[in-house]
Amino acid sequence: MRDGAVYSWSNAWFRWTIVSLAAFTVVSLLVGFVWLPSVHKDFTAQNLWDAVCRAAGVPSRWTGAQDVKTGPASTDVVLERRMVRTMDAGAVGRGATLALNCTMCHGAQGMSSSNAPNLSGQYPEVVIKQLLDYKAGRRSHTLMEALARDMSQQDIEDIAAYYAFLPKARTAPTTYDESLPALVRVGDPLRNIAPCISCHGGVDQKLGAPWIEGMPKDYLVEQLKAFKSGARRNDAQGQMRNMARPMSEQEIAEVAAFYARKASAGQRH
Ligand code: HEC
Ligand code: HEC
Repeated sequence: MRDGAVYSWSNAWFRWTIVSLAAFTVVSLLVGFVWLPSVHKDFTAQNLWDAVCRAAGVPSRWTGAQDVKTGPASTDVVLERRMVRTMDAGAVGRGATLALNCTMCHGAQGMSSSNAPNLSGQYPEVVIKQLLDYKAGRRSHTLMEALARDMSQQDIEDIAAYYAFLPKARTAPTTYDESLPALVRVGDPLRNIAPCISCHGGVDQKLGAPWIEGMPKDYLVEQLKAFKSGARRNDAQGQMRNMARPMSEQEIAEVAAFYARKASAGQRH
């Protein structure tokens, strides 16, 4: 046999080697990228390309595929200072009319006498964000989701304007003082719990952190437990989930009682 002819297509052995190598490659790609991933319980790829991307470790959001384990993304509302715009009288008036549907649970003046959250004096960007999250199904509550679904962006902004405008039902803010519960005052750095007053008012108020002073105790407990279990996941970057997760039931009860306490004391400003 001439030198070089070994690597010629006319050589049966050469042909066989190339064809079987190609076939083997295709089969192993199919097994590794399509069949193996498809037998995983959480497999959700909609097509061959998704399957290949999944197996190669491409994050599912790059391909648009939904990841079953993480469910919907936390929240898609971008908080903007613009939401805290000065409220015009028209918006407040329209908001007041829309809010007539809310008094049954949130109270005539936005101060709840049931276990629904107070809305009076709530920061407008908080009301806007929470309603948008209910509307998009990112915070779950059957009734609030249904109500929010029917609201336009304008309705939501007007309602937020109305509640922000209501005579300040906000109780005096917590000021730093040695007698505050430790978690409220200094948090617990070893467990990565930041002090509540560094976001919820007192020392600082972070954009999007709700006014929680004077909220019904049961509501506060319920929300903290929901963050802890991950049932509520509309907090951006998991900031509340990360804090609630290491908290014990007793700590949750203690901080909730602390924040609810002023409602009964009737200490208003
Ligand atoms: C039947 C009772 C009921 C009615 C009516 C109702 N709500 Fe609610 N609302 C609730 C409850 C309960 C929650 C807390 C739900 C949860 O756990 O997520 C809530 C939560 C909210 C929140 C989130 C507040 C926060 O601090 O996170 C907003 C904002 C809100 N409601 C606005 C409204 C508006 C606006 C209306 C009227 C259009 C309305 N609600 C009507 C019961 C009600
Ligand atoms: C790093 C800032 C930060 C710290 C520290 C923090 N929070 Fe929050 N908290 C937030 C934000 C932001 C939200 C709103 C999440 C969302 O967008 O739904 C929130 C929401 C809440 C809610 C739900 C209120 C409602 O009406 O929806 C409760 C209750 C709460 N926090 C309690 C606490 C307590 C108690 C502490 C201290 C142990 C604490 N938070 C510490 C940022 C913080």
